[in-house]
Amino acid sequence: MIILGIETSCDETGAAVLQMRNGRIQILSNILASSAPLQAKYGGIIPEQAAREQIRSIIPVVDAAISNAKCQISNINAIAVTYGPGLIGSLLVGVETAKVLATIWEKPLIPVNHLLGHFYANWIEATPPTFPCIGLLVSGGHTDLVLFKNHGKYEYLGGTRDDASGECFDKCARLLGLPYPGGPEISKLALQGDALKFNLPRPMINSNNFDFSFSGLKTAVAKIVNSQQDTGYSKANLASSIEAAIVDVLIAKTIRAAQKYGVKQIMIAGGVAANQKLKESLESRVKSLGFKLYVPPAYLCTDNGAMIAAAGFYSKKLTDPLKLQADPNLSLSYG
Ligand code: KG4
Ligand code: ZN
Repeated sequence: MIILGIETSCDETGAAVLQMRNGRIQILSNILASSAPLQAKYGGIIPEQAAREQIRSIIPVVDAAISNAKCQISNINAIAVTYGPGLIGSLLVGVETAKVLATIWEKPLIPVNHLLGHFYANWIEATPPTFPCIGLLVSGGHTDLVLFKNHGKYEYLGGTRDDASGECFDKCARLLGLPYPGGPEISKLALQGDALKFNLPRPMINSNNFDFSFSGLKTAVAKIVNSQQDTGYSKANLASSIEAAIVDVLIAKTIRAAQKYGVKQIMIAGGVAANQKLKESLESRVKSLGFKLYVPPAYLCTDNGAMIAAAGFYSKKLTDPLKLQADPNLSLSYG
């Protein structure tokens, strides 16, 4: 079985061809056109600009994915596409392209929730998690905890009430004068700093639920930056303290969820899952409890077409591809 996956929910344009053989998923090609240079210039994503770039790149990216996979259109069994959540203009580019291709190539169309897609990066070219499994999604737009009971069968446990963890990294980085995206920048700078030099809040770490809140942390960082601007402070120490605060909250809640539901397998996904400190600290915690941790390779943590194709192997196809509608507000708490 071979699936072409298409991802355009935010600023990236991704297309990938994946094959499932004997239950294992293999990447035949994985192409990504990023508007990262534009974001770096403007300090973030401008939705209309992102969609314009995606209109330009979607067909060349799909073409490259098929030719790099060294397969023919006739070898593709289905097309999987992200239909939400995300930026409406960006989603429309992928969804409408996938609808056209599914119609003219006469392929089944598989709609994929982008958030679920992130988790399926754990099924690519690796021994995948087994169920039940706790999933922590940490990206620029989302921070969610999910109890997976099977493919297509999951329970939403909680999520952020304000900023997502990646957004917190990005906003704090901006306060420190670091470029976008801020997560990798803070992480790099944190290596030279001491996390104990600033005592930052760990919002909701002890709350009796699986929700998160990161906006207070950003405010605390803003106060430090403003008050110490004249006297001078170590950016590396602050970066290290920010990273430690975010990681501490993510780990505490994830472990508590696993313990509450009696689950011994944990998977992480999304851009922040590429964070070395999160991976190392969670791995050591998980090991000490006799649990098992699954983390995708860094290049599959951030948005890509491969994870969407991977999710497609476990999702239902549509009977009428033309009925698919982009849904910018799709969440994990329904559907
Ligand atoms: O999953 P993703 O590519 O896009 C969304 O669906 O949002 O995640 C992007 C986010 C950004 O906020 C970025 O700063 C963060 O992931 N990120 C990281 C790292 N790499 C990317 N955050 C912390 N450490 C990293 N190494
Ligand atoms: Zn994403």
